[in-house]
Amino acid sequence: MTELETVHDFACIIVIFGGTGDLTYRKLMPALYNLKDKQQLSGKIAIVAIARQELSLDHYRRSVYEAIEEFSRSESEAGIWHSLQERVYYHSMDFNNDNGYLELNRLLIHLDQKHGTGGNRIYYLAVAPENFPLIVNKLHSHGLALNPPAWQRIMIEKPFGRDLTSARTLNQQISRVFPENNIYRIDHYLGKQMIQNIMVIRFANLLFESVWNARYIDNVQITSSETVGVQNRGEYYERAGALRDMVQNHMLQLLTLIAMEAPANLDTESIRDEKVKILRTLGEFSAETVRRGVVQGQYTGGMVNGALVKGYREEERVSTASNTETFVALKVKIPNFRWAGVPFYIRTGKRCHTKLSEIVIQFKRLPEILYSKEYNLQLEPNVLIIKIQPKEGIYFQFNAKEPGMTTKIVPVNMDFCQNCDYDGDSPEAYEKLLLDAIKGDSTLFTRWDEVEHAWRFTDSISRSLNDAAAMLHDYPAGSWGPVAATNLLNYDGREWWNEQ
Ligand code: BG6
Repeated sequence: MTELETVHDFACIIVIFGGTGDLTYRKLMPALYNLKDKQQLSGKIAIVAIARQELSLDHYRRSVYEAIEEFSRSESEAGIWHSLQERVYYHSMDFNNDNGYLELNRLLIHLDQKHGTGGNRIYYLAVAPENFPLIVNKLHSHGLALNPPAWQRIMIEKPFGRDLTSARTLNQQISRVFPENNIYRIDHYLGKQMIQNIMVIRFANLLFESVWNARYIDNVQITSSETVGVQNRGEYYERAGALRDMVQNHMLQLLTLIAMEAPANLDTESIRDEKVKILRTLGEFSAETVRRGVVQGQYTGGMVNGALVKGYREEERVSTASNTETFVALKVKIPNFRWAGVPFYIRTGKRCHTKLSEIVIQFKRLPEILYSKEYNLQLEPNVLIIKIQPKEGIYFQFNAKEPGMTTKIVPVNMDFCQNCDYDGDSPEAYEKLLLDAIKGDSTLFTRWDEVEHAWRFTDSISRSLNDAAAMLHDYPAGSWGPVAATNLLNYDGREWWNEQ
């Protein structure tokens, strides 16, 4: 069977709670449109968007069309839209209202008959997290949650809790209704093309895997910087900060993929087991270690991409005395045999110089013999960069003789740009994640114990920052973060790759 034929077998209704929200318009609907466009969506599919607003079906479909025109990576085409829109429905209800769920049930049963979706459901919770328990309980009490032999899955956006305790409570509430293998916790970074490529680069290349350890690697730098500020999310961000918003999930996921051992095979649980082992290994921070290993910052006004922007404390719905960090850099050690002594430097921030996500693997320097000694020069170490966004690709730096009569040795590079070669047409994260949830493949979603250990680790950081009364450093918008983040590496005799 071809992959396409297989995909066509997966019939279901995708029920989106938060059908008029930003995520639905900007990401989910365009993703579904692109899946349809690329013939990845089963003919037996329907989409039911749910929100409080009273809207006619025509009105809703028109707003979805406009969103696709604006946000879809592929041009909207009448034929494709026509066949998708016939499958898009709108149901207005209050998440609290029992009648709303009764009517929803009737609508879903009707759509099962019309589209042959066989009772299979994906409930996508694109709503504020405080609604998660309520919706899950209502789905349960109205018999919408568990109806074998059909399957019912739940997709949940982050944040999954705001610390270990609240995440545990939330998880208990959800798992009373949905079994773990039907819970799809989203970390949209895992849907990104180059992040899926990390395991392939490592485990499908003898060249890399054989040197992927403390013997050859000097340090790893994981960066995810943004040029945007908190936009209209001030209220959420004030309670989150960069540590909870980015490190607890995306950054730690990148770390585990770089550091994990090869799984016994490629099944979902074998891969997740290896990732969890890394998260369990991370030692907790203390007031003592946090001072030397963590830098937090907050942006002040400055220039980003040629435009003057305000500082964090002047943003909407942000306290003028806010102590929320919009930048964090940390040095993490993984005390196992593979990584003993290798620092993993992580940094992420808003209103930085450039929008960039990449992982830099810096190899050790060669001993100073032969060329270094005879020509009295310092050879640059090899560097491998996994570029996640905006460019997707791999960069490798090595040393070669400069052409001509000279004996000079210079660093040269091989730069493979994946989204340049494929005309920038690489699938968006949400396309991959929605398709995988439809197929029932949860490899790119986070298992509960991953979430739990990630919280344990980040909680230890926030607790220790408090205990140590750690400083919050200013950095001007448009920079690479506070000077203290540069010093974090300088104290170790190293530099961030972009500062070398
Ligand atoms: C989200 C964070 O998870 O990731 C946002 O909540 C952040 O604050 C976003 O802007 C970054 O995602 P991306 O795909 O643009 O790197």
